[in-house]
Amino acid sequence: MITPDRSSSRDSRFAVWIGTTLTLFIAAVAIGFVWLPSAQAGASGLDLWGAICSAVGLPNRNARIPVTVTGQPASSIAWTPETRLLLAQGNAAHGAALATTCNNCHGSAGVSDDAIFPNLAGQSVDAIYKQMEDFKTGKRDAALMGVYVNALSSQDLRDLAAYFAGFPSAFTHTSPEAGSVDSPARRLVEVGDPLRGIASCAACHGPMGVTPGAPELRGQQRAYFEEQLQALATGRRHNDISEQMRTVARQLTPQEISQLAAYYANLSATHPPPVGK
Ligand code: HEC
Ligand code: HEC
Repeated sequence: MITPDRSSSRDSRFAVWIGTTLTLFIAAVAIGFVWLPSAQAGASGLDLWGAICSAVGLPNRNARIPVTVTGQPASSIAWTPETRLLLAQGNAAHGAALATTCNNCHGSAGVSDDAIFPNLAGQSVDAIYKQMEDFKTGKRDAALMGVYVNALSSQDLRDLAAYFAGFPSAFTHTSPEAGSVDSPARRLVEVGDPLRGIASCAACHGPMGVTPGAPELRGQQRAYFEEQLQALATGRRHNDISEQMRTVARQLTPQEISQLAAYYANLSATHPPPVGK
């Protein structure tokens, strides 16, 4: 009786299996590490060798990494020692002479009568100066402010900043309307919302800490405050260095923006909130 040679048929099936696997492997390597990288080399800005190295995961010193320009800086101001030195030399008396044009809108003591015009009193020299330079250089939309700052020199702007920063803030005390300890606005101000990546407002705007150029918010006009947060959230205003403020504003809901505006405006004795608000 003839028995089929099972072991030799198993051997040949094994050889076919190994052969197919090897062929597939070589084809995959050729496609993944040679053909695809060479097809994409131009688009990714790498030469062929660079593209192959990058596909294999190896560093390639000769690769032509493209330098991408990611847009203009948010502001022309940088908080260097030179900027600080110049700000320290602001001449408030000269600022007072220039300020007669500003008073109609911002108030004679930097506290305005109309909620759409920001209070300047109580803000730091650096915050006031930065905004004026940003209006002048067009980094912040200067539809209204442009005509008042375009003709002034940077020294004039520093003098004006020194003058307005000298007025006491519209903020005088914490009124009870500012909200109970666990009001949503107060939580954002004092604790932030770590789960949404929101640092506490007080850590940058005071009183817990102050980031250079971060304006005083306590006692600020409510309508102005709300408008600015909306503008920062949508990117309509984009002059904050490193997107420090846009990152926060984008996370806030319209309701939170309105609550925060009310909270900060209420921290003012000079401007009590309208009845019923
Ligand atoms: C016709 C009204 C008007 C006049 C006059 C005016 N401003 Fe303004 N100012 C505004 C408005 C409105 C804003 C808010 C920005 C905007 O919406 O364009 C503003 C914003 C500012 C800001 C930014 C404040 C912040 O908290 O970010 C500064 C600083 C400022 N003005 C300073 C001045 C100075 C200094 C003068 C005088 C040289 C002046 N302004 C004249 C209406 C005026
Ligand atoms: C990481 C720091 C940081 C945090 C946190 C932060 N801010 Fe700001 N904020 C800034 C800076 C810096 C500016 C000034 C931007 C510029 O240079 O134009 C600013 C500007 C603003 C302005 C515009 C003020 C004006 O007068 O023009 C408002 C309103 C504001 N912040 C509200 C808030 C609120 C509310 C919170 C908390 C929910 C908050 N900020 C948290 C840094 C911060």
